[in-house]
Amino acid sequence: MVVNELENILLAVAKKLGYSTESMRVILSNRPDLCDYQCDEVFKLAKSAHKNPIEIGESLVEEVRKIDNFSDYFDSVEFVKPGFINMTLSSSFINRILSAMYSNPKFNLGEPEKKETVVLDYGGPNVAKPLHVGHMRTAIVGESIKRILNFAGHKTIADVHLGDYGLQIGQVIYGVQKESIALDNLTIGDLDRIYPAMSALCKEDEEVKNKCAEITKELQDGNLEYREMWKKICEISSEDILGIYKYLDVSFDLWYGESDAYPYIPKVESIMKEKNLLQESEGAIIVDVSKETDKKEVPPLVFQKSNGAYLYATTDLATIQERMEDFNPDKILYITDSRQSLHFEQVFRAADLAGIAPYSIFEHLGYGTVNGSDGKPYKTRNGDSPKLQYLFDQAKEVLISKKETNADMQDEDVDKIVNAILKFADLQNNRERDYIFDISKFSEVVGKTGPYILYTYLRIEKIIQNISIDNHKISNNIYNNYDRDLRLKLLEFPVAFKNALEYRMPNYLADYVYDICVLTNAFYQNNHINGLEDEEKKLDWVFLLTLTNRMIKEMLSLLVINIPTVM
Ligand code: ARG
Repeated sequence: MVVNELENILLAVAKKLGYSTESMRVILSNRPDLCDYQCDEVFKLAKSAHKNPIEIGESLVEEVRKIDNFSDYFDSVEFVKPGFINMTLSSSFINRILSAMYSNPKFNLGEPEKKETVVLDYGGPNVAKPLHVGHMRTAIVGESIKRILNFAGHKTIADVHLGDYGLQIGQVIYGVQKESIALDNLTIGDLDRIYPAMSALCKEDEEVKNKCAEITKELQDGNLEYREMWKKICEISSEDILGIYKYLDVSFDLWYGESDAYPYIPKVESIMKEKNLLQESEGAIIVDVSKETDKKEVPPLVFQKSNGAYLYATTDLATIQERMEDFNPDKILYITDSRQSLHFEQVFRAADLAGIAPYSIFEHLGYGTVNGSDGKPYKTRNGDSPKLQYLFDQAKEVLISKKETNADMQDEDVDKIVNAILKFADLQNNRERDYIFDISKFSEVVGKTGPYILYTYLRIEKIIQNISIDNHKISNNIYNNYDRDLRLKLLEFPVAFKNALEYRMPNYLADYVYDICVLTNAFYQNNHINGLEDEEKKLDWVFLLTLTNRMIKEMLSLLVINIPTVM
């Protein structure tokens, strides 16, 4: 990795000159017009040695220039006032690293210092309720983070954590009974109709609302008739949900629901009791999770309602107990709407207080809202919250109207492009931020869009597909600036990847693959490979583009995007 190698050289030199430091951090250049990488650590050295940074910087640079194999690494190393070391890499260094990346399936990323077991909780659809755009966010952000963790070498366990035991179940059971639908005849169409109708009715009719809550409670207590209905509802709904995940290429290791946590509630309850954490308050059982240091009030977690029912927080605690017993994970990640952050803060604190799992293993990775052009949560033309299928259909419609598809294109390819449009638009945003849903912009073939990336890949594939480079070793040459810029960008891979991994932010990879594509297009427009007579140059460039496309494909896969055969 470029950064490490440069850091090691600078550290050795600093030590040789007698400066006491354990690291010489190297970063990408802030001024690519002046250099490729830079080190700003001179200030730190000057401070601890009580010396002038200029003196230190100049002595360091002078010493670096004296190393035996200087040109294996650098074209130039300069000190720039007030305290920067600017480094420009030599062609042989760039090509040596590219060659190592080429011969390794993970582009020479290496293995993590410690291989972690990470449970990821994402998707979280609610049985019998239609999935909306928020469910698309959790699904693709979660799936992307899972793939990034896997690529880094960690072990992941993805759990869909279905909302299968909430009030909506009571509402649907009530509706099914009211319409006297025989269980065997129940369809997804019925669920799609009944849930919204019952949910609206409950808002108007207090009696119905109470009845639905009662049914839910009885179901949780084991009422056989309700359990049978519930199973059927879960079955029908799961099939529908699985279809959506299949379309999105999102998959889970565990198809558990909130209901699966119930057997763990007694254990959690007794642990909490033993630690004196449960208190009574107005008939309910609560856990005080506040801390003296809290700047904003953190209200108590409600463990059990006064009617005896357990809540969202209770099942989350029980699920933690279950996950600790089953997998003893190093981390548990939750990918949900940012608006749930207080809920998770309460749950994590309670788990920590009870000694079920330490606070430090939890991460709540929140995401923002998808808005319409009015800046409010995105709605359909009729003013409803759009179902996911509506978004897929809309993207397809726009593709067809823009004539980006042709008659002999396979449906499968159209679906891949639809996926690329939606996912690249979403994942290029810092996940915490809201974004505006603009399907027309997302499907353009120029600009920072999924189709642009796909086009770039397919265009390059066409150029390289018939040229074999089996035994070619990349030469020491770099032929012009378009060429050099692209090579340098490929070297940045570990930096982009590390950011995505550490911050759990796929947008670092979306930015990175977009940058690669911009430079690839510039390269390709200015350097013509077909018809080149200089065989070495031709093979060097095909080598470069082969690596480029392998990287684009991998980045897309980490962003859950598949490549169509044609566009
Ligand atoms: N079903 C929940 C919702 O739709 C999301 C579940 C998230 N996961 C969890 N362990 N709480 O909001």
